[in-house]
Amino acid sequence: MTKIIMDTDPGIDDAAALSVAINNPELDVELVTTVAGNVTVDKTTINALKIINFFGKGTEIPVAAGAVQPLIKPFEDAARIHGESGMSGYDFHGELPKPLKETAVQAMYRVIMASDEPITLVATGSYTNVALLFAEYPEVKDKLERIVAMGGTLGCGNMTSAAEFNVFTDPHAAKMMYQSGVPIVMVGLDVTKKALVTPETLAEIETMNPAGKMLHDLIISDGDRNEHGVAMHDVNTIFYLLHPEFMTTKKLWIDIQTEGPANGETVADIRGAYHDGQTNADVCLDIDAEAFNDWFKAEVKKMK
Ligand code: BDR
Ligand code: CA
Repeated sequence: MTKIIMDTDPGIDDAAALSVAINNPELDVELVTTVAGNVTVDKTTINALKIINFFGKGTEIPVAAGAVQPLIKPFEDAARIHGESGMSGYDFHGELPKPLKETAVQAMYRVIMASDEPITLVATGSYTNVALLFAEYPEVKDKLERIVAMGGTLGCGNMTSAAEFNVFTDPHAAKMMYQSGVPIVMVGLDVTKKALVTPETLAEIETMNPAGKMLHDLIISDGDRNEHGVAMHDVNTIFYLLHPEFMTTKKLWIDIQTEGPANGETVADIRGAYHDGQTNADVCLDIDAEAFNDWFKAEVKKMK
């Protein structure tokens, strides 16, 4: 069983990633932390609690609210993709559990230091909480197995030509994370835009079970779509964790642009020469999109 902390900004694809992670028996989700991103952090926190509550895990999986804004850059949300609440496509009922009184950074520190085995950090929002954690408690770096982070691209961005949303939102945090020395798997648009959840997959999950209906309704309200399907970027982090054999990766040195027209770009040292062959990330370059859809359907089928 892999122990993970999910640092997230639900957001529809974050909600789908969280749903799969908390229902998969191979993953032990020790903590969920939230960050401002797709919508403000008060909303991402409520949305994380809604998903956890939907699956009846409110007493098992704690949620701690994190950064309200990026380290330096002004905050810009993605409500145009995810709706004003961040998860508008489905009407959740029931009283929500309360978030922890600790901040995300305090809770991450406590959970990581108390763990008897290294923790994997899955980051599917901007990396503000991660950067703050490393700045305040650098000793946690040795206790992390790795960070599996959705974000970045070696190709065209989805905010600007250069930048993907999570990195664009807080490029200074991304730079700190990539300079941390903790092993990073970069799950960027290079794979997430290839592995769309297809209309056929959506039709199948709609009638599978209540969870399938909930995920279907959320996903069809997601604005990040084309005629081939809907991008469920963050779900790719969990797919990678469980099935790395369906991704092609390459070890590269990644640095982050923090100003100018390419602000938020993940710059890869493709030649390898400048950093003397050293690398700081395993970058996902290709994915088996059919295997991703089959796996996603199977994961939803296991839910209630
Ligand atoms: C990333 O941006 C957010 O809108 C999504 O939740 C995902 O984490 C994709 O660029
Ligand atoms: Ca996200």
